[in-house]
Amino acid sequence: MKGIILAGGSGTRLYPLTKGLSKQMIPIFDKPMIYYPLSTLMLAKIKDILIITTREDQENFKRLLGDGSFIGLNIEWAIQDEPNGLAEAFIIGEDFIGDDEVCLVLGDNFFYGQHFVRELEEIRNTLDGCTVCGIYVKDPTQYGVLSFDGDKVVEIEEKPEKPKSNYAVPGLYFYDNSVIEKAKNVKPSARGELEITTLNNMYLKENKMNARLMGRGMTWLDTGTHIDLIQAANFVETIQNRQGLYIGAIEEISYRNKWIDDEQFLKICDELKKTDYGEYLTKIYNENRGEKK
Ligand code: TTP
Repeated sequence: MKGIILAGGSGTRLYPLTKGLSKQMIPIFDKPMIYYPLSTLMLAKIKDILIITTREDQENFKRLLGDGSFIGLNIEWAIQDEPNGLAEAFIIGEDFIGDDEVCLVLGDNFFYGQHFVRELEEIRNTLDGCTVCGIYVKDPTQYGVLSFDGDKVVEIEEKPEKPKSNYAVPGLYFYDNSVIEKAKNVKPSARGELEITTLNNMYLKENKMNARLMGRGMTWLDTGTHIDLIQAANFVETIQNRQGLYIGAIEEISYRNKWIDDEQFLKICDELKKTDYGEYLTKIYNENRGEKK
């Protein structure tokens, strides 16, 4: 399975922050935002990743992540010239996807919770068509929302004024290879975007859309507004400080997945040594070498 991070967009709800900087570069406490969706793909054991950015921002992202080899990834880069909508990712990514399945994560989506890795593994192993998630939120009106008939999902409504459930569809989607052709058949919506909800409803009509409802142990945040940003930062700081376990630490995930060896990991630890983050990674290294349990 290939992975795509969609990290373009205009970020108008974060002005003036995003006038000179991509939203996905803004820090969420101690890491750039893109680390969090990248960590999601890595937890799903996806190593081949396409990052789609705006033209102006690509250089900065490349400076941050390069070709991904420092954490054992193969990162490729593409540009979305205009924010034409999420479904465009599969048209832009056609060659990259090739004949494979693909997972799309939005660059401003944040996931954390118990059994998340197991969930991701199960989704991958059972994929037949498309799988989206459903997460209960107080106000789902800004998202795609699942409508049910009993237990069965009958539709996804995009940003409904009167949602038929509280289950929002977060920015993490899994598809078979037919997503490329389907995306090409998506017509722009009233707001002029190629909507991912239209694409997901195509799968639904073919009886090929699976909605996986996630329980209370799962935290999903998106970070599109100023309040969202500070809430996400506080969340990360609280968990990291209390548990002593980091969220979104891509270097740690790579090391634990055995995608980089001791020597490569130690180099990263050394580069970050003046930070708590670096100290944390060094602790992981020492524990892994059996010096402390
Ligand atoms: P949004 O938050 O819907 O849009 P935005 O980032 O342009 O922000 P704003 O509403 O403040 O103007 O986007 C969700 C995510 O998807 C975000 O990470 C940006 C990304 N995105 C793209 O990369 N291309 C697109 O065409 C769109 C619509 C979003």
